[in-house]
Parts: sequence; C-alpha cells; structure tokens
Amino acid sequence: MNVTHLECAACGLRHEARRLHNLCAECGKPLLVRYDLKRAAASLMRESLPGRGPDLWRYREVLPVENDENIVTLGEGFTPLVHASRLGAQLRLSELYIKDEGQNPTQSFKARGMAAAVSMAKELGAQKLAVPSAGNAAGALAAYAARAGLEAHIFMPRDTPRANVIECEQTGAQVTLMDGLITDCGAEVARRKDAEGWFDVSTLKEPYRIEGKKTMGYELAEQFDWELPDVIIYPTGGGTGLIGMWKAFDEMEQMGWIGSKRPRMVTVQASGCAPIVRAFEEGKRFAEEFPNAQTTASGLRVPRAIGDFLILDALRASGGTAVAVTDEELIDATKEIGAAEGIFCAPEGAACLPALQKMQSAGAVKAGERVVLFNTGSGVKYVESFS
Ligand SMILES: Cc1ncc(COP(=O)(O)O)c(C=O)c1O
Ligand SMILES: [Zn+2]
Repeated sequence: MNVTHLECAACGLRHEARRLHNLCAECGKPLLVRYDLKRAAASLMRESLPGRGPDLWRYREVLPVENDENIVTLGEGFTPLVHASRLGAQLRLSELYIKDEGQNPTQSFKARGMAAAVSMAKELGAQKLAVPSAGNAAGALAAYAARAGLEAHIFMPRDTPRANVIECEQTGAQVTLMDGLITDCGAEVARRKDAEGWFDVSTLKEPYRIEGKKTMGYELAEQFDWELPDVIIYPTGGGTGLIGMWKAFDEMEQMGWIGSKRPRMVTVQASGCAPIVRAFEEGKRFAEEFPNAQTTASGLRVPRAIGDFLILDALRASGGTAVAVTDEELIDATKEIGAAEGIFCAPEGAACLPALQKMQSAGAVKAGERVVLFNTGSGVKYVESFS
C-alpha cells in the first residue's frame, strides 16, 4: 500500500487517506491521491508488467486499494490501442491511433473510475452510493455496486439515452430521472445525501474515480513502449480522464518510467455545451457555467465542471488546445470512423475526428505526428442519436 495521503488540488491541504472524503475540508475543491512513488517503483518494474493480468489492476502499486479482497472488478481496462491506418491515410496521418474504451465492461471508460471508486467505498465502509450522471457513469456505478453488494442511487436527466436507463435498472440500481441537466441531478444528490446516508461518488467530488481513469495514461505509455504520443484528443465533460492521464504522466516520470516529454492535451466539446473551450479561448482559469447546454453527445452535456481549473491547467501546460465541434460534425464522424476502422464510437468519442480535422486545418498537427483519439464509449448505447 503506497498511498501517503490525499492532497487538495487547489490549496494543497493534506487529508488523511484511510477515511471517506469528498471535497477539500478547507476550500471545497477536489482531492488527489498521493503515493510514495519511490516505494511503488521499487516493487513495480515496467519489465514485470507483461506478466500481469490484462486489466487496470496491473498497475496495482499505484492504485489506492489496500486489501486485495476489496477489489471490485469486471475486467476493466487494458483496452486496445488501434492503429487507425485507413482513417489515417484519408487524413494523411501515418501515426493515428484510437484508444477504444468502448470495450470496457458497461461499454465505456466510466468503468475504470467506478471500479476504483466502488472498491474504495467498499474498503472504507460506505454502503449506499449516489451519483448524478449523464448516462455512462450511472451504468458503470450500477454494475460495480451490484458486484460489490452495495446500493446504487442514480440521478439522470430524463432525456438520457434509453440504454443507460435500462442498464441501471437491470443491474439493480435505484433510478431517478429528473427534468434538467447533470448539474441539477448533482444538486439533488447533495441536498438528500446526509438524510439518506448516501456517499456521493460524483466525479472529482470523491478522490478515487480519477485514480481508475488515470490508468488510461499508464496504458498509453505501456502500449507505446514508454514513449508518449504527440497529441491526445479527449472528449471532455467533467474532464476526469484528461486530468487523470496528466497525473499519471507525472507519476510515471517520478518513477523513472518515462521522461519529461508530454503530449499536447486537447479537449473536445460540443458547440452546444463548450464551457472549457470558451474559458480556454478567453484565457480564464475557471470556466463559467454554459447556458442552455444542448448536445446529442450526452456525456458532453456538462455545463459546469468542478475540475475546470485542472483541465485548463493541463491544456495550457502541455501546449494543447480546446476545440468545439457541432452535433452534425460528430454524428457524421461516427460513420466515418466506423466505416474506415470498424469501431462504432460513442458520439463523444467520434467528436475527436472533426476536432483533429480542425487542428489540421489550423496547422496545429503535422503529418508525421503520433495522434491518439479517445473513443470513450460504444455507439451501441446511443441508438436515438442515429435514428
Ligand atoms: C462516452 C463519454 N465520453 C466522454 C464523457 C466525458 O467524460 P469526463 O467527465 O471524464 O470528461 C462521458 C461522460 O459522461 C461519456 O459518457
Ligand atoms: Zn483546498
């Protein structure tokens, strides 16, 4: 067990690790898990990874669970990194890759975060878990909570894709559909959680979902033989995956696994809900709530993100950018990627393609550069978007 403490990402205040926490007790911002990375590196060598299981628990020494018996798993992580050579040829990019997160349990990258969060909730004694969700996080929480024997209380907008609602019901969760957006669902969880005895597992409002999601960064490094790509394009709602990968890169450097080179991190959002793009363009560190948020890419319909400053810091520190694409562009892109590579992307993942094309038009990506598009989920859950 290499966790030393939790640290506030904004004010740095130290919090004790072996207790249930939500946000910083002092300033209300997200807490990050800190490890003794020297110790982790002494027991986990890069070279020993090929002998380990093909899931995210292969990075066990840099994950927060103390007792193996508390690990709640459905085989999440270690998803394929597909060389998109046909799509790449169309775009004149020889080194284009798709990280296919649709192959996770519950068909999205949300499985990674929930595997870690539910394992920790179990370890630290929470019984009833509650979450506001745009859809995929709900499906993942429902599944992992079922597997752990814990209660899942789920709050989603009424117009969340049907598949997400059905998967939650069929895995035994308590589902409430609300008029409004994920932010309204979050407010409802916050209002009721104390009286109901719920532990709030909203993204970045508990410290462990990001630990599960950071493993995407570890996997990219391992799958590229410890040389990070030049550009990572990531569909951003709450931004937990992007912040998590950024954290993973620093951890790996401290363990001596990689050097100081970092990919340019790129946020993609839908033009109907682009708070991070707007803040990036305006040079702000915090993003204002995006009014009248709308997009068929439900996971991108996040008008306000508590980790906004962490996303924006990573984009800027990496020399990356933030790009908005229209719903029409991201829906068209689903078929382009599907027809070229056989991957049926979630609309959020497909949004990476028009973002890349816009960057190419602006001269922001060169032909020989290695570019990774994150397909964060499977298109199968979004039949309404394609009819
Ligand atoms: C398929 C998909 N992609 C991307 C996102 C946004 O993820 P994040 O909150 O980590 O930015 C979501 C969130 O619901 C999602 O379901
Ligand atoms: Zn703080």
